[in-house]
Amino acid sequence: DDPAADPFEVAQQAAADIARISGVERHDIALTLGSGWGRAAELIGETTATIPATDVTGFSKPALEGHVGTLRSILTPEGKRILVIGARTHYYEGHGVRRVVHSVRTAAATGAKIMVLTNGAGGVKPTWHPGQPVLISDHLNLTADSPLEGATFIDLTDLYSSRLRDIARSIDPSLDEGVYTQFRGPHYETPAEVRMARALGGDIVGMSTALEAIAAREAGMEILGFSLITNLAAGIQETPLSHAEVIEAGRDAEPVISALLARVIEAL
Ligand code: 6GU
Repeated sequence: DDPAADPFEVAQQAAADIARISGVERHDIALTLGSGWGRAAELIGETTATIPATDVTGFSKPALEGHVGTLRSILTPEGKRILVIGARTHYYEGHGVRRVVHSVRTAAATGAKIMVLTNGAGGVKPTWHPGQPVLISDHLNLTADSPLEGATFIDLTDLYSSRLRDIARSIDPSLDEGVYTQFRGPHYETPAEVRMARALGGDIVGMSTALEAIAAREAGMEILGFSLITNLAAGIQETPLSHAEVIEAGRDAEPVISALLARVIEAL
């Protein structure tokens, strides 16, 4: 939180904490688990270390039910090391964007070359249904903020790697894809805001991921993004939205999407 601290040095410290506690010097892939995706870790491989996020420099306590405050080091059957981040800080918590992207910078500092970002989100396409996983093809960052500081003019073309999306579709050819729209939250959008998102080309509405993807690109990682559609957005579905509904849809979809994610990670 010290404004004079260099966020990349803080991330290096966090990576050193992870290496010390887990005994794993380098990770190959990092995976952030959003709501609904929590069980995937168990299917990916053997958990060799479970680290409370509060033991790692710069991480804060989880704010919400459904968000697990742990980091895990997983060894896959093929010998890949996966850093599983179950400790997301959301922009709406109000701690600033540095805290939001700290886990991504930490992942890069552990050596991860691929960042897999998952979330639970609202669907703007009426043909989608709750429980459906979709690939993120691009994003609209409507937070009016950026994780980058100073004159860091980075390119965001193909931010959500088409190479990695092709691999995901080779596992599940039925995967649809869409443009993720990050709103600040924590309230859900009004129906008018959902129409705006739709008019701008947004297909998915959520409260995470876009800022993290920008930081991951800055750190030189390749990015794969998945949304679990937990509900249709306001005005698209007729009933009011509730957090309980979001959690429940996540729970129902969990076995299927976790298996999908595990197979995709295996193929990366
Ligand atoms: Cl409809 N909007 C946002 N911003 N986040 C969500 C959501 C909707 N449903 C689940 N998460």
